[in-house]
Amino acid sequence: MESPFKKNILITGGAGFIGSHVVRLMVNNYPGYRIVNLDKLTYAGNLANLRDVQDKPNYLFVKADICDFNAMLRVFEEYRIDSVIHLAAESHVDRSITDPFSFAQTNVMGTLNLLEAARRSWRGSNLFYHVSTDEVYGALEFNDALFTEETRYDPHSPYSASKAASDHFVRAYHDTYGLPVVISNCSNNYGPYQFPEKLIPLFINNIRNNKPLPVYGKGENVRDWLYVEDHARAIDLIFHRGKTGDTYNIGGFNEWKNIDLIKVMIKTVDRLLGRKEGESEKLITYVTDRAGHDLRYAIDSAKLKDELGWEPSLQFEEGIEKTVRWYLDHQDWLDNVTSGDYQQYYKKMYGD
Ligand code: NAD
Ligand code: DAU
Repeated sequence: MESPFKKNILITGGAGFIGSHVVRLMVNNYPGYRIVNLDKLTYAGNLANLRDVQDKPNYLFVKADICDFNAMLRVFEEYRIDSVIHLAAESHVDRSITDPFSFAQTNVMGTLNLLEAARRSWRGSNLFYHVSTDEVYGALEFNDALFTEETRYDPHSPYSASKAASDHFVRAYHDTYGLPVVISNCSNNYGPYQFPEKLIPLFINNIRNNKPLPVYGKGENVRDWLYVEDHARAIDLIFHRGKTGDTYNIGGFNEWKNIDLIKVMIKTVDRLLGRKEGESEKLITYVTDRAGHDLRYAIDSAKLKDELGWEPSLQFEEGIEKTVRWYLDHQDWLDNVTSGDYQQYYKKMYGD
């Protein structure tokens, strides 16, 4: 029997931070597509991120592990998957430093499993969209020009090495087997539903709880920040209009030194909590630097603008205000994800 849906799209990692925004956008904007959200629900996956779409007729959740090849084959067959937006990954650099094996397993072998399942089951018009990171390009000095799609890969952390390897496998499946693929490499995302192991939600959570703010090294590293819904919009656009076989960089043209960004967060949280502005700066605590800490990431997304007309929609000040408000309005979400295993993780990473 023919599928009643125009497309049957597998989104992996849809219960995670970025994945949940991509799932929400696709389910709401394309009622004619069936969105199959496949997620293992690791510590970073949370179905509470998707309560507003869970009962939609074009949404379906499958709990599965991308490292289980036979399970992937079954999912492709059972749901007649014709396109993939692949976001499932181990995503936190610090965890990759203490546990590199699980990064190789999920990010490299998991991606390979999905590519192979697609190769075996696909005929005709399909697309494998691989969501990747700007960290594959390595690190910039303060005065270096931005990463472009032509920048040579030079990953440093086990996380970025695993993402680089997965990008290479995706391109290899295109070049060797003709699998229709597209890749995007994005800068640091921020916004609602980000697990509080990453800088922005971790610091918002600590400021509200009056806990020390662990700044790595001198706080001078630079990141380019993009609001997560702008990333999801870019993924939608590239999925529909990107050139098969191509790579697109996605970034905010919005570089911040960590310590400056941290001061903006402190100011915003203090104001919204009715504290004296800047009162929480006393929580700043300089700690041992991250091993192999990349100095600066900055990405040139001119290709995406010129070819597909995408631009970030939010100014950073607006984005950070929205983000802080969201976490302060959803303190139950924060309390929930920071109970249990998070406490052990936190203690191991940062001590008491
Ligand atoms: P996240 O850690 O918040 O979510 C990852 C999701 O993948 C979780 O829901 C988790 O349960 C799921 N998952 C992990 N292992 C799995 C497995 N073996 N099988 C099935 N599901 C599994 O990550 P995120 O920050 O939302 O990142 C999503 C993707 O975007 C990743 O591929 C990451 O490399 C990439 N990316 C992230 C950023 C960023 O700033 N967060 C920037 C650029 C690219
Ligand atoms: O560039 C894209 C990447 O951005 C994504 O591919 C990764 O999945 C994502 O985690 C992110 O990586 P970073 O390592 O840049 O993000 P993180 O939030 O962990 O750290 C941001 C900066 O803040 C970095 O320079 C390290 C610093 N930092 C981070 C933490 C967690 C601190 O100073 N203290 C901290 O406690």
